[in-house]
Amino acid sequence: MEHKTDFLVVGSGLAGMSFALKVAEFGKVILISKTNLEETNTWYAQGGIASVMYAPDNLEKHVQDTLIAGDGLCDEKIVRMVVNEAPEQIKSLIGWGANFDKDTDGKFNLNREGGHSEHRILHYKDSTGAEIMRALSGRVRAHQNITIMERSFALDLITQHHMGTPVFRGNPEIECYGAYTFDIANRRIDTILSKITLLATGGSGYIYQTTTNPPIATGDGIAMAYRAKAYVDHVEFFQFHPTSLYNPGERPSFLISEAVRGFGGILKTQDGEEFMKKYDARGSLASRDIVARAIDTELKNRGEDFVNLDCTHIEPESLKAHFPNIYQKCLSIGIDMTKTPVPVVPAAHYFCGGIRTDENGKTTIRNLYAAGEVACTGLHGANRLASNSLLEAVVFAHRAAIDSGRKLPLLKHQNNIPRWNDEGTRNPDEMVLITQSTRELQQIMTNYVGIVRTNARLKRALDRIYILYRETEELYSQSTVSVKLCELRNAIKVAYLIVKHARQRKESRGLHYNLDHPNSCTASNIAKTFSSGVSSSK
Ligand code: FAD
Ligand code: SIN
Repeated sequence: MEHKTDFLVVGSGLAGMSFALKVAEFGKVILISKTNLEETNTWYAQGGIASVMYAPDNLEKHVQDTLIAGDGLCDEKIVRMVVNEAPEQIKSLIGWGANFDKDTDGKFNLNREGGHSEHRILHYKDSTGAEIMRALSGRVRAHQNITIMERSFALDLITQHHMGTPVFRGNPEIECYGAYTFDIANRRIDTILSKITLLATGGSGYIYQTTTNPPIATGDGIAMAYRAKAYVDHVEFFQFHPTSLYNPGERPSFLISEAVRGFGGILKTQDGEEFMKKYDARGSLASRDIVARAIDTELKNRGEDFVNLDCTHIEPESLKAHFPNIYQKCLSIGIDMTKTPVPVVPAAHYFCGGIRTDENGKTTIRNLYAAGEVACTGLHGANRLASNSLLEAVVFAHRAAIDSGRKLPLLKHQNNIPRWNDEGTRNPDEMVLITQSTRELQQIMTNYVGIVRTNARLKRALDRIYILYRETEELYSQSTVSVKLCELRNAIKVAYLIVKHARQRKESRGLHYNLDHPNSCTASNIAKTFSSGVSSSK
C-alpha cells in the first residue's frame, strides 16, 4: 500500500511525539512506532530533565558541567544553544500537560545527579518519562493532523538508490523520499512517501547483554541512515549507567536513578568501603563514565558481582516519597532500601553517538532529520551529562520542526518510487538462528566492547561481528521480511560501527577507555582542552 504525507515521523518517544505535535501545525503527519506508542526509552526515564531554573544555578554552570562531562568532544556552540533554550522547552512540556514535582512554596523540586554542580533536574517523582509520555501521547492521539501507525516497522529509507541511481556517502545530492515500512499485523510492506522524514528511533542498548533499555532499542535508525549513506559520529561512546539493580535474569535491568545518589545515596563495596573518593573528588556524584569504570574496577579486583548503594542513613519517609517506584521495585525482590543497601551493577544505558546533525537536526541527507538518542548533535561529546538527553530530544525536535515547517511549501513528493524489492521466499522460521546470533552479538559487545577495552579485544570483536554479518546477510537475502531478523541485521551494523570507531580512536577519552591507550583526557584536566572533535564514519 502507498501512503503520502507531508511529514513522516519514525518513533514515538519524546523526540518523535514533540516533533509531530509541532509540525502538525504545518501539514499532515504520519507517526509510526514499531510496537505501541508508549513502549519507548522515554517511558522509562526516571531522574528527569535538566534545565536551569533558579539562582544560585545559572546557564554558565550548566554549560560547564556539560562540557566537563563530555571530556573535550562537545560542540560548545551546541551546548550553549541547548542550555539556553531549555527553559522555553520545559514550558512547552508543561503547556502540553506534563507535571513536574513542586515544593510547598510552589517552586519546582529539583533533583541533582552525577556531574551536575547544582540541583537542576525537573522530575515527576521517579517516573518522569512516563509522565511526559502520558501527556504527549494524549495530545498526539487527539490531533486530527496526525495519523498514528503502531506496530509499523521502518525497514529502510527511500533515496535515489531505490530508483537505480548509485549514491555515495558524502554526496550532498542524496535526498530522502520517505521509507518502506512493514505493517506487522497485516504482514504487508508499505511505501510511505513523505516530503520530510524525521528519524527518532532512540537508542541501541539491546546490542549489549545487560541494559536498562527496553527491547525496542536495537539501533534501527542508525543502521537505516548509514545504509542510506548518512554520516554518523561519536559512535564509540556508549554510556553505561553505574547503578542498575543487580537482579540476575531480569532483562532489561531495572534502573536505580542517579538521583538517588543526588539525594544522599552512597556507593560502597560489599564490605562497606566508600570507594568512590579514591577515583574522583566528587565521590558517588562524579560523572557516569568515571563512576561506572570505578565500579567495574572494584568488581574485577575483588571478584564480586555487585557493589551496594547505601541509603539507610536517609530519612525513610522522604526517600520513599521521592522514589516510590524504585522503593516498590526493590521491595518486590525483598529489599527494603530504607533498611538494607541496594545491590547495583553498571548496565548499557545510552548511545552518545549517532546520526550526525546540524543545529536544526538536519542530517547529511536532504529532507531527512534526526532527533533524540538516534542523533549526534554535538551536545554530549564523549560522555553525556545525566538528564541532558530528554532535554536534547525536545530542543532538537523543536528546531527540526521550525526548520522543516519553513521548507515544506517548497517540497514535492517524489513519484515513480518502486515497490519494495522482496525477493526472499523463505520464511525465516529458523528462529533459533536469529536468537542465537543475537545472543552472540550481545556477548561479543559485552565482553570485548564494554566499559574497558583493549586493541586485542576490539580486533576480536570485529572478526566475530564479521562472521555474524555474513551469515545474517545471507539469511536476510533468502528470507521474507521478519522484524527479528531486521533488528538483528541493524544491531550488527551498529555494533560494527561502534567497533570501527573505537579502533580508530587511539586514546582513552570519556566513555571510550582503552587500556592500550591509557592517556585519558579526564574530567579533571578537561578545562584546558575544550575542542570540537569530529570523527565521522565514511
Ligand atoms: P525513544 O523514547 O527510545 O523512542 C524510540 C521510538 O522509536 C519508539 O517509539 C520505537 O518504537 C521507535 N522505533 C525504533 N525503531 C523503529 C523502527 N525500525 N520502526 C518504527 N519505529 C521504531 N534521559 C534523561 O534525560 N533523563 C532521565 O531521567 C533518563 N532516564 C532514563 C532511564 C532509563 C531506564 C532509560 C532506558 C533511559 C533514560 N534516559 C534518561 C535516556 C532517555 O530516556 C532517552 O535517551 C530518550 O528518552 C530517547 O528518546 P527518543 O525520543 O530519542 O527515543
Ligand atoms: C537516571 O535517572 O539516573 C537516568 C538519568 C539519565 O540517564 O539521564
